[in-house]
Amino acid sequence: MLQGKLITLDEFTIMETRKFPQATGELSSLLREIAFAGKVINKQVRKAGLADILGQHGATNVQGEEQMKLDVIANDTLIHVLKTSNDCSGIASEENDEVLPYEDTHSANSKYIVLFDPLDGSSNIDVNASIGTIFSIYRRVSPTGKPCEEKDFLQPGNKLMAAGYIIYGSSTMMVYATKLGVNGFTLEPSIGEFCLSHPNMKCPENGKIYSINQGNWVKYNEGMKSYLNYCMEENKEEKRPYSHRYIGSMVGDMHRTLIKGGIFMYPADRSNANGKLRLQYECNPMAFIMEAAGGKASTGTQNILDVTPEKLHQRVPIFIGSKNMVDKALEIING
Ligand code: AHG
Ligand code: MN
Ligand code: MN
Repeated sequence: MLQGKLITLDEFTIMETRKFPQATGELSSLLREIAFAGKVINKQVRKAGLADILGQHGATNVQGEEQMKLDVIANDTLIHVLKTSNDCSGIASEENDEVLPYEDTHSANSKYIVLFDPLDGSSNIDVNASIGTIFSIYRRVSPTGKPCEEKDFLQPGNKLMAAGYIIYGSSTMMVYATKLGVNGFTLEPSIGEFCLSHPNMKCPENGKIYSINQGNWVKYNEGMKSYLNYCMEENKEEKRPYSHRYIGSMVGDMHRTLIKGGIFMYPADRSNANGKLRLQYECNPMAFIMEAAGGKASTGTQNILDVTPEKLHQRVPIFIGSKNMVDKALEIING
């Protein structure tokens, strides 16, 4: 990075595209369009306390969870911005039952589809803690020229072209990954631009933090309890016990894990055979980012990115973070 020179997300994506003479720039424009949606959502998030848009919307989403008003605003914003862009043929959202192909000619000719969790960690809105937007971009497998189809959205994570998140925290950041690596951009509010602040992000191979909703302890199997006992047990050489941190917003917990190292887990338990988090909206994009940053993500038995999705809203257990910590967790959990 040039000393004292701000590199905006727009400049950065254009520079990246120029590395590949055959690239059309469509992926870069799509990333910029998602960043624009992020800025619009950010504006709503920042005024949530003032504008009487806090609280529940009154409807439930496809998973039977209550939608918050900001969930609806974020979802509508992304759907609208991507529909009016030239680079997206359709979307799937955690908040919608079905995929939404855009029917107009421009969209039908676009080669990319986008999946998103418009507002992750929404139970944190009322307590003013970090929330975020998570997105995934795939190249469609159906032919262009016609509306996209559900099969375009059921591709495994190892087919992702790009994935990222926007975190509405003490500052607003967009972090995105391609196979080239992971870069983070902080929103500079005075010019309204995301500026490169975290170039070439790497997740440390080792960490000292474990992150899980430990209140579910009684529902965990013996392998899971053994690993948590390992995290809490004293071993000065191995710098244990580890610290425990859990925000309850995957974006917040993952952002910390990416920067500081550690492990984030949402395992299966007695009541939820597949854990809680959704493969296509939460686990795959985060696994793609984590692997591009040198970390690891597993269901416990398989790399997350290798899972073939069977349905749009399916859930999978997840163990994600510093490579050595995830390996150790899998070794103990699988006995
Ligand atoms: P969402 O707000 O999109 O429904 O996601 C909430 C998720 C995730 O962000 C977080 O890691 C997890 O739910 C927390 O679940 P618990 O409250 O069960 O710990
Ligand atoms: Mn979520
Ligand atoms: Mn959500």
